[in-house]
Amino acid sequence: MFNWFKRKKNTPSNGRYKHGNNHLIELKQVVKTYDIAAGKFTALAGIDLNVDPGEFVAVIGKSGSGKSTLINMITGIDRPTSGEVLVGDTAVHTLSEGQIAVWRGKNVGVVFQFFQLLPTLTVVENVMLPMDFCNTYPMNEREDRALHLLEQVEMADHAYKLPTAISGGQQQRVAIARALANDPPILVADEPTGNLDSVTADSIFHLFSNMVAAGKTILMVTHDMDLAERASRTILLADGKIVRRPRTKSGLRKMLNETPPPADDPQNLAVEGGHA
Ligand SMILES: Nc1ncnc2c1ncn2[C@@H]1O[C@H](COP(=O)(O)OP(=O)(O)O)[C@@H](O)[C@H]1O
Ligand SMILES: [Mg+2]
Repeated sequence: MFNWFKRKKNTPSNGRYKHGNNHLIELKQVVKTYDIAAGKFTALAGIDLNVDPGEFVAVIGKSGSGKSTLINMITGIDRPTSGEVLVGDTAVHTLSEGQIAVWRGKNVGVVFQFFQLLPTLTVVENVMLPMDFCNTYPMNEREDRALHLLEQVEMADHAYKLPTAISGGQQQRVAIARALANDPPILVADEPTGNLDSVTADSIFHLFSNMVAAGKTILMVTHDMDLAERASRTILLADGKIVRRPRTKSGLRKMLNETPPPADDPQNLAVEGGHA
């Protein structure tokens, strides 16, 4: 179904995909500026990024560094001011709003921090929604498929409950099942564990790892450095640019403005000592 995911017959000699791109996801010199009262604000300052099939990429950076803006470029939720966003055979930045919604529905599963399940629909109806929207599976197969996806995230027992009747961690599992509804090759998650306790966050991360093992490509924004370290690659953003990450964990924590753990890290002690 997702034929752009495969090598095409009349592939141009300069690339694997239709627009000459070799990587599943390619951002080329992506700039995003916002008009604000004080003039222009640059949220992304010329991003070049390549992601290959099967990668699990963690995106980190302090608040306001451009993480959400970056991944919104890949989902087409937001558009670049200049530059190119190529995903498989699609030049996302050239699509109209209507085209983007359908394209995203089939090709990119999106998971948000606050789950964003529709409160008046049951769990299983929420998972069926993308199939209804994109008309991807025969109507009489959608519920079975949704139940099967709920099984994969261990939520089948809750299928006929409303989202308000289940916990935050359970809602996020349902949101992941919903993101998989149309079997998209790519999953994008913006702080999917940001509202969960660490044990639940760990189980959600484990689910994502399973999805990668099953062949998905994942980009995940996270504040949780320990989770980020477990992804296959980490991208660090600062002021709308991809920057080289500090070599030590404490250097990274400092860069992210994180409260250092009160543990045995001598560098943290030194910083605190300096302020005392
Ligand atoms: N619609 C907007 N208008 C003006 N500024 C925005 C808008 N969206 C985001 N920004 C600014 O762009 C910067 C990057 O935002 P964002 O990508 O949400 O950061 P992050 O996800 O890393 O916290 C922030 O300084 C934010 O205030
Ligand atoms: Mg954000």
